[in-house]
Amino acid sequence: MPRKGQPAGRLAMRVRLHHLGGVLTGAGAARGPLRDWAELGLQRDVELIIETDDAAEEARRSGADSTDSVMPRQGRICWIGPASSPERPASDISVDLGGRLLGHGLVDAHTHAVFAGDRAGELMRRLAGERYQDIAASGGGILHTVRATREASVEALTTDLLRRLDEMAAWGARVVEIKTGYGLDLASELRSLDAIAAAAAARPGLTLVATAMPAHAVPPEFQGDVDGYMEHVCAELLPALLAHPAAPRFVDVFVERGYFDVSHAGRLWQAAQVAATRAGRRVGLKAHVDEFERVGGLPWALEAGATSVEHLLASDATELQALCHSGTVAVALPLVSVFLQQPFAAMRAIVDGGGLLAVATDCNPGSAMSTNLMLAAQLAVFGGRLTPAEALRAVTRGGAQALGCPEGIDGTLRVDGPACLCAFDVEHPDALFYELGAPPRAQAVP
Ligand code: NIG
Ligand code: FE
Repeated sequence: MPRKGQPAGRLAMRVRLHHLGGVLTGAGAARGPLRDWAELGLQRDVELIIETDDAAEEARRSGADSTDSVMPRQGRICWIGPASSPERPASDISVDLGGRLLGHGLVDAHTHAVFAGDRAGELMRRLAGERYQDIAASGGGILHTVRATREASVEALTTDLLRRLDEMAAWGARVVEIKTGYGLDLASELRSLDAIAAAAAARPGLTLVATAMPAHAVPPEFQGDVDGYMEHVCAELLPALLAHPAAPRFVDVFVERGYFDVSHAGRLWQAAQVAATRAGRRVGLKAHVDEFERVGGLPWALEAGATSVEHLLASDATELQALCHSGTVAVALPLVSVFLQQPFAAMRAIVDGGGLLAVATDCNPGSAMSTNLMLAAQLAVFGGRLTPAEALRAVTRGGAQALGCPEGIDGTLRVDGPACLCAFDVEHPDALFYELGAPPRAQAVP
């Protein structure tokens, strides 16, 4: 029977999640240091009741969505509290979590997961001493992947993307941002968005956030004419991408020597806003800044009101201070530091300075070939000197903030909030950081 107040055609079902090792609500401070799990909102001896619709619950039970941890994302949390509380609402079914830790699903706020081919050969060249930038300048790097991606069908791109998303989900990701940027021409960029839309339809338990990034590199047909390419991006690519049914919520730009400078970034951002308005949509700004060299990307992005700035390996302390005092989220990508043998972003200083910090994988074939966001969180601890609680906040709440809290997902578990949940196969969150390499631990509940 539909519950009172429930919209017609939507049957509410209340599911009680009990026998939990603990619930990591993430409801501590959004900024500043966190010493321990209690400060991040770890609660013991509590249960959760979530409300969902029968159809979604049925799909979960029949295993139709194998990546879904605990509940489909359509659910909402309607109660968190002790089992003995007289205020606990009635529920229709109960799920025993077997003492597992329940937390917010992880949010991977920066990936380039839609691409074809691989660049394993480049890894060998880099390990033999060649620099990432020099390999790129000789026609490898991003352009290598562009060639493979342009030849791939939507079906092939979708198959590869789904494999990566399933791996991400096994480590706990429930929300994943995916950038275009390996097409760099209209048809190929649109095919990348088609693949993201197809993957979203195939994995309803995941929330995918698309970002348009035609300003990732200058394609071969515009070699030596970065201004001409940017004109083409602004006039042709952005209007088409931002009108696509898989509506990108962000545009991103690689502000770096040899790629785009701040004047290109400014043109891109202006054109994106015009194109989004024409399409009746909103668009936010992200920017890759200070990955190798400091060329003014960070102050430009702050001035432009970017939702997030990514990489920050070569950032200067004064500019980082301005970032910490802003509403822009710093996105650290520690897997890139390991993969490219670079220093880590100043994660400790950003947290101590009161900045908003996310940690993401940057999953891509050239600078971070990994789908493991838990490993990125571990590296944020061992390389970035965060506490485990700060690192977990950065892959939940920080990630959600870096994506503008899509569908109300803000990285915390709260009454009336979305049931973006993950059951980790551990009893205590310490265990998530103990085994290096982060074995997959996020499981669907039977
Ligand atoms: O975030 N910096 C630009 N984009 C990616 C690398 C892409 C690639 O090498 O294919 C990054 O590091
Ligand atoms: Fe990136």
